[in-house]
Amino acid sequence: MIRLSKSFVGQAEIDAVTAVLGRGFLGMGEEVGRFEEELSTYLGGANQVVCVNTGTAALHLALQAIGIGPGDEVLVPSLTYVASFQAISATGAVPVACDVREQDGLLDLDDARRRVTTRTKAVMPVHYASFPGDIQGIYGFAKEFGLRVVEDAAHAFGCRVEGSYVGNFGDVVCFSFDGIKNITSGEGGAVSSSDEVVLERIRDARLLGVTRDSERRYRGERSWDFDVTHQGWRYHMSDVMAAIGRVQLKRFESELAPKRISLAKRYRLQLQSVQGLRLFSNDVAGVVPHILPVRILGGRRDEVRMALEAAGVQTGIHYKPNHLLTRFGAGKQRLPVTEKLYSELLTLPLHPQIELADCEHVAAVMSSVLN
Ligand SMILES: Cc1ncc(COP(=O)(O)O)c(C=O)c1O
Repeated sequence: MIRLSKSFVGQAEIDAVTAVLGRGFLGMGEEVGRFEEELSTYLGGANQVVCVNTGTAALHLALQAIGIGPGDEVLVPSLTYVASFQAISATGAVPVACDVREQDGLLDLDDARRRVTTRTKAVMPVHYASFPGDIQGIYGFAKEFGLRVVEDAAHAFGCRVEGSYVGNFGDVVCFSFDGIKNITSGEGGAVSSSDEVVLERIRDARLLGVTRDSERRYRGERSWDFDVTHQGWRYHMSDVMAAIGRVQLKRFESELAPKRISLAKRYRLQLQSVQGLRLFSNDVAGVVPHILPVRILGGRRDEVRMALEAAGVQTGIHYKPNHLLTRFGAGKQRLPVTEKLYSELLTLPLHPQIELADCEHVAAVMSSVLN
C-alpha cells in the first residue's frame, strides 16, 4: 500500500526525545524556548514565534489575542480543514464561509468582499496545498476594510513568497506541526508575529492565562504567586514535542523540503498529459507541498479513486467544505466553485518516504483509467 501521508522521523528524533526523557521533566521548559528561537531565526528573524500543542490551538489563540469574540465575523474559505472553522467558532465569533478560486483553491477575494459587514473583524486566508497565492492582495483587502489577518499556514511551513518565508511578514501567522505536516513535533503548532501585545497574550493564554509563566518555565521554574487577567487554556507545547520539532527543523531544508518538491514535480510531469485531469496552478517557486490535490473532471473522481485503491494507492479528499457541515450551515448557503472542486478533488500520496517510482505508478494507474 502506498500511503497518502506518513510521519517521517528517524534515529535523530528518537535520540532527542530520549535526551529529554532523561532530564526528568517532560512539560514545557527550555526545549520549547529553544525551538521557538530556532523557528524565528529560520523564518528570517523579523517575527517572534510562540509554540502551542496544535495548529488548531495556534489559530484559536491568535484569534483570541487580536480580540475576536462573540458578535464578530471572520471571513474564511470553506475549502479548508474544519480546524479553521472550529478555531473561529471557539472564540464565539461566526466563521463566514467564502468561495475559493477554481485555479488554486484559495480564498476568492471578490466573494469575500460581498460578505463584509459591520461585524467583520478579520480574514483568515488558508494556504491551501502550501500555496500562499496573492498574499499581498489579501493584506490590501484587509487594509481596505480595517481587518486583522490570521493566516492559516498549517500547510505552508517553509514556503516562501518572493524570497521571504511565510511567517516572517504579515500580521499573525499560524503553523501546524502535526504528525504529517512539512515538519512535525508529534502534534504541535506555532504562531508567528511581530505584534508584541498579541505574542504576550498568546504566551499567557497557552498556560491558562497565568501571566508571564512562560519565561519562568524556560528557566525550569514555575509561578506560585501569579495573576490571571484573561481566559486561558492548556495549549502549551511540551519539551518532548519540541525535541522532535528541533530535529525536524534541522532536517527540513536539506532533506524534507527537497523530497516533497521533487515528488510534486514528478507527479506533475507524469500527469500533465492525462486527459480529464487538471492540476492546480500552485507549482510556484518557494512552495514546499504538504499535500498534492488534483482535479478529476467529468464526474470520474470516484472511479479513479477506486482504481487507485485496487492498485494499492491510498488517496484523500481535501476537504469536505465546511459550509456543508451541520454545525456551519448544513449547505443552506451555496458556494459554487467550492462545491464543484469538492466533487473533483483527489489528493495523491505525498510524504518523504514515497519514491519517484511510486509517483510513476500512481500516474500510470490514473492514465490507464482516464486516457
Ligand atoms: C488547513 C489546516 N488548518 C488547520 C489545521 C490544524 O492543525 P492541527 O492538526 O495541528 O491542529 C490543519 C491540520 O490538519 C489544516 O490542514
